[in-house]
Amino acid sequence: MSANADFLTVQNVSLRFGGNAALSDVSFGVRQGEIRAIIGPNGAGKTSMLNCVSGFYRPQEGQVLFKGQDLTKTPTHKIAPLGIARTFQNIALYTGLSTLENLMAARHIHMRQNGLQSMAFWGPARREEVQHREVVEEIIDFLEIAHIRKAVVGALPYGLRKRVELGRALALEPELLLLDEPMAGMNVEEKEDMARFILDIHELRKVTIVLIEHDMGLVMDISHRVVVLDFGVKIAEGTPDEIKQDERVIHAYLGEQ
Ligand SMILES: Nc1ncnc2c1ncn2[C@@H]1O[C@H](COP(=O)(O)OP(=O)(O)OP(=O)(O)O)[C@@H](O)[C@H]1O
Ligand SMILES: [Mg+2]
Repeated sequence: MSANADFLTVQNVSLRFGGNAALSDVSFGVRQGEIRAIIGPNGAGKTSMLNCVSGFYRPQEGQVLFKGQDLTKTPTHKIAPLGIARTFQNIALYTGLSTLENLMAARHIHMRQNGLQSMAFWGPARREEVQHREVVEEIIDFLEIAHIRKAVVGALPYGLRKRVELGRALALEPELLLLDEPMAGMNVEEKEDMARFILDIHELRKVTIVLIEHDMGLVMDISHRVVVLDFGVKIAEGTPDEIKQDERVIHAYLGEQ
C-alpha cells in the first residue's frame, strides 16, 4: 500500500435485496486517522454500507479494500481480527451479563480468532487472561463506566448501554471503528458525552472512525469529511462546510428537517 492510498476504499459497491437496490455503485475512501461521516435520509443505505464493510452483507458488485485486502472476499469472522470493530443501530449486547463480562467476551472472541488454544486458567492462558483484563479495565476507566462494571447490562439505562456497546467494540482494540448512530435516542447531555468519547477515541487512541449519525449539528462538528447517500446512491462528498452548501444534499436531506 502506498503512503497516499486510502486506508479503507469502497469501490463501485452495489447491493440488492431482490429488486430493491440498497446501494448502487457507491465509491468513497477513508483515510487513516480521519473521522468520516455517512449521512442520508432513512433507508438511504447507510447501515447497509457498514454491513458491507463488516462482512455482514456481501455486495453483488464492487470491492471494499481495507489496507489493500478485499473485505467482500474475507470470511466474516476474519474481519474483526484485521482491526475492524463496530457498534449496531440496535444495541447488540449480552443483556444477561455484566458490563465487565460483555467486554471480556469481546476479548475472548478476539483471542480465539487469533488462534489461541486454551481458555484454561493456568500457564500462558492465565497470563493472557490477565492481559485481557487489563485492556478491558483500562477501557472501562476511559469510558467512565467503572460504577457499572458489575451491573447487568439489560438493566442499564439506554444511554449507558450504548456506552457499554462502544466499550465492547473498543475491547477489540480496532484500527477502524464503525459506529451506526451511536447517539440515537439519547438526550442532549448523553449525546455530548458520546461526542466527547468519539473525539477522545480518535485523538488519544488513534482510531479511524466511520460514523453514521442523523444529528446534523454533531456530524458537522466532529467529522472531517462526509459522504451523503440517498436511495442507495452517493449524491455528495466533502468537508462539512461543502456538504452544508450542496444543493442536492439540502434538497434530499437537510431540507427535510
Ligand atoms: N436484510 C435486508 N433485507 C431486505 N432489505 C434490506 C435489508 N437490509 C436493508 N434493506 C433495505 O435496504 C435499504 C437501505 O436500508 P438501510 O438500513 O441500509 O438504510 P439506512 O440508511 O441505514 O436507514 P436508517 O436511517 O433508517 O437506519 C432499505 O430499502 C432497506 O429496506
Ligand atoms: Mg441504518
